[in-house]
Amino acid sequence: MKLKIAVLPGDGIGPEISVQGVNVINAVCKKFGHEVSYEYALCGAAAIDEVGDPFPDETYNICKEADAVLFSAVGDPKFDNDPTATVRPEQGLLAMRKKLGLFANIRPVQTFKCMVHNSPLKAELVENADFICIRELTGGMYFGEKYQDDDKAYDTNMYTRTEIERILKVAFEYAMKRRKHLTVVDKANVLASSRLWRKIAQELAPLYPEVTTDYMYVDNAAMRMIQEPSFFDVMVTENTFGDILTDEGSVISGSMGLLPSASTGEGAPVFEPIHGSWPQAKGLNIANPVAQILSVAMLFEYFNLKEEGELIRRAVNVSLDKGVRTPDIQVKGGREYGTKEVGEWITDYIINA
Ligand code: IPM
Ligand code: MN
Repeated sequence: MKLKIAVLPGDGIGPEISVQGVNVINAVCKKFGHEVSYEYALCGAAAIDEVGDPFPDETYNICKEADAVLFSAVGDPKFDNDPTATVRPEQGLLAMRKKLGLFANIRPVQTFKCMVHNSPLKAELVENADFICIRELTGGMYFGEKYQDDDKAYDTNMYTRTEIERILKVAFEYAMKRRKHLTVVDKANVLASSRLWRKIAQELAPLYPEVTTDYMYVDNAAMRMIQEPSFFDVMVTENTFGDILTDEGSVISGSMGLLPSASTGEGAPVFEPIHGSWPQAKGLNIANPVAQILSVAMLFEYFNLKEEGELIRRAVNVSLDKGVRTPDIQVKGGREYGTKEVGEWITDYIINA
């Protein structure tokens, strides 16, 4: 196979983990005889500094022409405490999602056998957790009409039938491929937008008779996720709820640095860690590259290259098992590995497999 990949390293620890992701892609392509080419593009604060726009047209064009995008992270503290900043790095990520029509964000929450003691939750709770959160990514409050003056501000949580239907269909299809259990997470006791979600889900459910569909308020879901994570198989929810719940989900796995995601829809799919740019760690070689590397596994799997994805997952599992870990998941008294060392270990494993 021939793959054309747009690489958007972004800000903070982004460039460091991006290198490890690209190395893994190269190793897999070499091993399996795939051809790959890369186009690098600016995004986030790096793009603001360079050209004054967090998602420049040039970046958009490079993404549009690619088969897939490898994205790392955006965000810079110099924008965080300035409420007057109208151009922000995060807008680059949002513009990318919107312009490429990436409405379905797939966020698997999985546990790694050797990591169950790294979670602040009890091991017996975490052990069997294995679910996917499907987060709607181009609607809701993130993109609805906004207003702000000194006395009043609002964000509109708007969803159309079309937007809801297409994401729910993705969720039902995922449930069909898994344990056939779908949980629709909303706040239908309060929000009109949630009531429409629930109505449409109830219309679609009979089309998937094999799927057990249940409905859960988001506050309850937040509790259930840590009380009994194994309850969930596929969870689907709107943009904002999905953002919050998946950070919570990463605690189950043991670290934010472990969870990848795939953003799919109309344009080129984007593969990205769920974590942010961790500016304080920039250049320190301490960031965990695993989330980025597992997003590469999702990239190959997206193109139906299952063995390739499987090999990456195996390499990651063995590395974790052997204690080849960055400080966020360090084994007590174990040797310290940096971003580079973990990435190199995984790459070598792939090449020698
Ligand atoms: C994520 C991030 C982004 C989001 C930020 C950086 C805009 O938190 O991908 O979850 O809120 O979607
Ligand atoms: Mn988030």
